[in-house]
Amino acid sequence: MKFFIDTANLDQIAQAQAMGILDGVTTNPSLMAKEGITGHDNILEHYRKICRLVPGGAISAEVLATDYSHMVSEGRELAGLDPQIVVKVPISEDGLRAIKTFHDEGIQTNCTLVFSAAQALLAAKAGARYVSPFLGRLDDIDSDGLELIRQIRQIFDNYAIETRILAASIRHVKHITGCALLGADVVTAPLSAIKGMLVHPLTENGLKKFVEDAAKMTK
Ligand code: E4P
Repeated sequence: MKFFIDTANLDQIAQAQAMGILDGVTTNPSLMAKEGITGHDNILEHYRKICRLVPGGAISAEVLATDYSHMVSEGRELAGLDPQIVVKVPISEDGLRAIKTFHDEGIQTNCTLVFSAAQALLAAKAGARYVSPFLGRLDDIDSDGLELIRQIRQIFDNYAIETRILAASIRHVKHITGCALLGADVVTAPLSAIKGMLVHPLTENGLKKFVEDAAKMTK
């Protein structure tokens, strides 16, 4: 399973990269706005910086437009920044058309805002490289995010669909292990959830004891 970090914060991306487990980065307009990135040139420069921080990683950069022709022109510009860029496109009729156009041009896409298996199937059919089901937002409304991952996995396996399932809107470690058990290809998670995977009270207690005993040995 690949690990992406879900942020536009350069320091957090660098921390995850330093852990040695990072395969990519996902951003969205909300995450970019949170970092105070505004203006066309600054946005493009920020994506370039992210690409440099994660050499060889897949970096999702989302189009801001919602109509076909602007999505396509924006996506072409984003894809031209760096071969690592994956153009993120929201699911919609125009989005599907744009995904198909990008696919025909050899531009990789990540279809975002996916909340049903039917949407994921359409995105795959249009040629998306990744589909991003949003687990946390489904759980927020008392639906079942992990059940959606299970359904998409089964459908993609039924037809040997190569589109990657990129589990998004991850809130905690249980989402990550759940996705791994269900066969999601990628999880994109905030740094807190990635670092949370390290934590176990027995590890902490055990290490404390080892450190105490090591001190006795070196007396
Ligand atoms: C990533 O691709 C998504 O945009 C992101 O995971 C959404 O997460 P949120 O529901 O925490 O905003």
